[in-house]
Amino acid sequence: MSCSSKETHTVVVELDLVVHRRRVVAEGVVELTLRRQDGAALPSWEAGAHIDLVLGPDLVRQYSLCGDPADRCSWRIAVLREHGSRGGSAAVHGELAEGSQVGVRGPRNHFRFEPSRRYVLIAGGIGITPIMAMAAAADDRGADWSLTYGGRTRASMAYASDLRDRYGARVDLRPQDEFGLLDLDSLLGEPAGDTLVYCCGPEPLLEAVEKRCAGWPRGALHVERFSPKEFDAQASDHPFEVVLARSGRTVMVSSGQSILSAVREAGVQVLSSCEEGTCGTCETTVLAGEVDHRDSLLSEEERAAGETMMVCVSRAACAKLTLDL
Ligand code: FES
Repeated sequence: MSCSSKETHTVVVELDLVVHRRRVVAEGVVELTLRRQDGAALPSWEAGAHIDLVLGPDLVRQYSLCGDPADRCSWRIAVLREHGSRGGSAAVHGELAEGSQVGVRGPRNHFRFEPSRRYVLIAGGIGITPIMAMAAAADDRGADWSLTYGGRTRASMAYASDLRDRYGARVDLRPQDEFGLLDLDSLLGEPAGDTLVYCCGPEPLLEAVEKRCAGWPRGALHVERFSPKEFDAQASDHPFEVVLARSGRTVMVSSGQSILSAVREAGVQVLSSCEEGTCGTCETTVLAGEVDHRDSLLSEEERAAGETMMVCVSRAACAKLTLDL
């Protein structure tokens, strides 16, 4: 997953948008088209971007933009009603009708669609939302691309027939009740040159794709997660210092405490949302020190570069970190 943005927590625009249109696009999936009240242009975005919906004081959720980036007056998202959700999908399904107002932050992009001659796109369930924008971008670029799209049943797969109608044989629809699990060995068995793989979907699919792509060139695979990756429970949580470069103050982060909470205790505000390393809201620029990355967003290259970190979960791999806070 790419995250080359140097956006920091200090520049946050929250827009008051209106649900211009609401429609059901699959079983349990509702699509919202959001606009400004006055119809003015929205910030630009590219395939892979997401927005935060501010659904309550402590309820902020991320949804991928799945419409057309050329449409500057509206943003489109699709939201699955999830049983056992922490409130985000229930709030969207239950409370956001046409005409409702909602606070929106973003867009941000931690899943950038890099240039390439060929793409293998893989989506599972509601993971189609960022992948759909990528299919359109790949087609616009004249790239050679394919999309394999799995879901529980055909009726549960949002935009399935639209995609098939628009792109024909490039799109392979694989409802599980008709075809079983995706045949990843055929799809990813042999590493292919000049090819990038983009995948979004449930964790078992991402893990299976990561396993199949282990022999692919470094940087070929890009995934986006809905839930955090598991990290070694034995990983060291030693205490360390954080220097806040803007004020010159030093904050102590104890073992078991996050940088986010230590910094907040010191009275410095840092925006956050998921607080589990999946959304990128708390991304902070690292000015000095070595990071123990524990997020589910940054690529291996970005981790190695050490220029940025998610302060809600990641820690120091040294005695002192200096952050642009
Ligand atoms: S708050 Fe979501 S990554 Fe830190």
